[in-house]
Amino acid sequence: MKSHRCGELNLAHCGCMVELAGWVQRRRDHGGLIFVDLRDRFGVVQVVFNPEIDKAAFLAAEKLRNEFVVAVKGQVIKRLPGMENPNLATGEIEVAAHSLEVLSESKPLPFQLDRAEDVDESLRLRYRYLDLRRPEMQRNLILRHRTCQAVRNYFNEHDFLEIETPMLTRSTPEGARDYLVPSRLHPGAFYALPQSPQLFKQLLMVSGLERYYQIVRCFRDEDLRADRQPEFTQIDVEMSFTDREEIIHIIEGMIRRVFRETIGLEVQPPFPRLTYREAMDKYGSDKPDLRFGLPIVDISSVVANSGFKVFSQAIAKGGVVRGLNVKGGGSLPRREIDLLANVVTEAGAAGLAWGIVEAGGELRSSIAKFLSAEEVAGILNAMAAEPGDLLCWVAAPLAVAATALGRLRLYLGEKLNLIDRNSWQFVWIVDWPLLEWNPEERRYEALHHPFTSPHPDDVELLVTDPGKARAQAYDLVLNGIELGGGSIRIHRREVQEKMFKALGMSNEEAYARFGFLLDAFDYGPPPHGGIAFGLDRLVMLLAGRDSIRDCIAFPKTQSAMDLLTQAPAQVAASQLRELHIRTVAEAPVQK
Ligand code: AMO
Repeated sequence: MKSHRCGELNLAHCGCMVELAGWVQRRRDHGGLIFVDLRDRFGVVQVVFNPEIDKAAFLAAEKLRNEFVVAVKGQVIKRLPGMENPNLATGEIEVAAHSLEVLSESKPLPFQLDRAEDVDESLRLRYRYLDLRRPEMQRNLILRHRTCQAVRNYFNEHDFLEIETPMLTRSTPEGARDYLVPSRLHPGAFYALPQSPQLFKQLLMVSGLERYYQIVRCFRDEDLRADRQPEFTQIDVEMSFTDREEIIHIIEGMIRRVFRETIGLEVQPPFPRLTYREAMDKYGSDKPDLRFGLPIVDISSVVANSGFKVFSQAIAKGGVVRGLNVKGGGSLPRREIDLLANVVTEAGAAGLAWGIVEAGGELRSSIAKFLSAEEVAGILNAMAAEPGDLLCWVAAPLAVAATALGRLRLYLGEKLNLIDRNSWQFVWIVDWPLLEWNPEERRYEALHHPFTSPHPDDVELLVTDPGKARAQAYDLVLNGIELGGGSIRIHRREVQEKMFKALGMSNEEAYARFGFLLDAFDYGPPPHGGIAFGLDRLVMLLAGRDSIRDCIAFPKTQSAMDLLTQAPAQVAASQLRELHIRTVAEAPVQK
């Protein structure tokens, strides 16, 4: 229906007769002329209806409303001097209409497309097909498309094979709840939607495929946030006969390619690395935002014997005293400083001690009277404090102090505008612990997943002191967001069995759940490893958005609702019968 696209017309087309089709973005009546901004995916062009050129088209144009779909034939003409629109790619020309056909009409929209950023997101999600008409949203989807193309081209050129893995499968533990699908043919049995293709990609390595990738949907029933969706997409990768360095190198190449081909930015691998311990100690997070400083400083050794009991007793109990030096923060109003205390107490710390460095170098603080002159000097020195600085301290068990100060650091980064919004700070987090003690369940949990290999020297620790075992795992973090994570895998049956045991699984239990993997390891499994990236998060960062919902065509809400189709929804009793299911509660679906 089109000879040209709206957005492509320019001075070079002047004189051409063109056929255009698209949506009426806006109509203005002006002294006997009607102007219509006509929009298609490729841009906007101004169409002028002049009764002297075509009376019928002019009369039809009088009836146009926003978002009507029309086909227009007309001639491209140069705009009169002074009438150009420098904000529009096609702003030097317009199309003088010779005919108009209305292809479909539109009711007034539930929200104005050019004001969509101000309306409630639920309205945008309910009418997502309208929301996606907005050029901003189309740009995000185009960016996503280009990211996928760059990823595919890159891996194809490096001999990776794109292989699909099942969606109806058994539970693969990635730390979240499964979405279950009842089986009609096997009463009482369920498939699980994959939390990731982890086990299948490992089996593909046992099959000898050597280099695999897939852009694949994953499903996790977990608490949702701006960077978490119940279904999301991974760039999933696995390789045989490899090691950490090769995987990191390949992935850095992929990231470089994606940034170059999507936003034209040259990122510079190799990316810096931090050990897990360094990241936790210095930034209080395993996904540190390195776009600003404000490192955490340990002052435990300075105050271990302090007269300030909150400090010395925390240390005596095996905890730490750590703090942040907020440069120039001494001028913050008192109520702002009180808010800082809320941040650390919400993260589990008992409270926040603080002080301000005076012009003469003394410490003004409610705790100063409990500290010796030596201790004050030691603190100021350790924290590189200068007059005007605000010093904040938390005394707590190590993990609590790290998390609390990590959150405080992020809060201050935002609040004091310390974050350089134009920088791209990649960092690999390496040397993870393999397991983490879950005090509630009184058992170890895998920090990544149970298929991550321990450091070769630490295999025996799985039996003797599991908490000490190091993992061959690595995460890539960008601007404080975890982009991807992976590891070298266990490929020997006896090690995998030790791992299951360390996680508190009996042999029978382990075999019942993962027997297919253990069996596969009996038949010549190659050493292998891999990684997976959150595609939605990558695109969100490339697009400069704060929510992955803006980069997914049809996302769900924070409460896992699809407002467009109103899923999840009740189903017919007959369907449930067929699936051998009886529900306990007829819970009305929450909006
Ligand atoms: P992991 O669980 O770390 O690893 O997931 C990999 C990456 O997927 C993204 N991601 C999510 N994105 C949006 N919504 C979610 N709910 C969500 N959950 C995870 C993150 C994360 O870094 N099988 C392993 C990978 C491996 O070992 O190879 C895995 O799935 O960006």
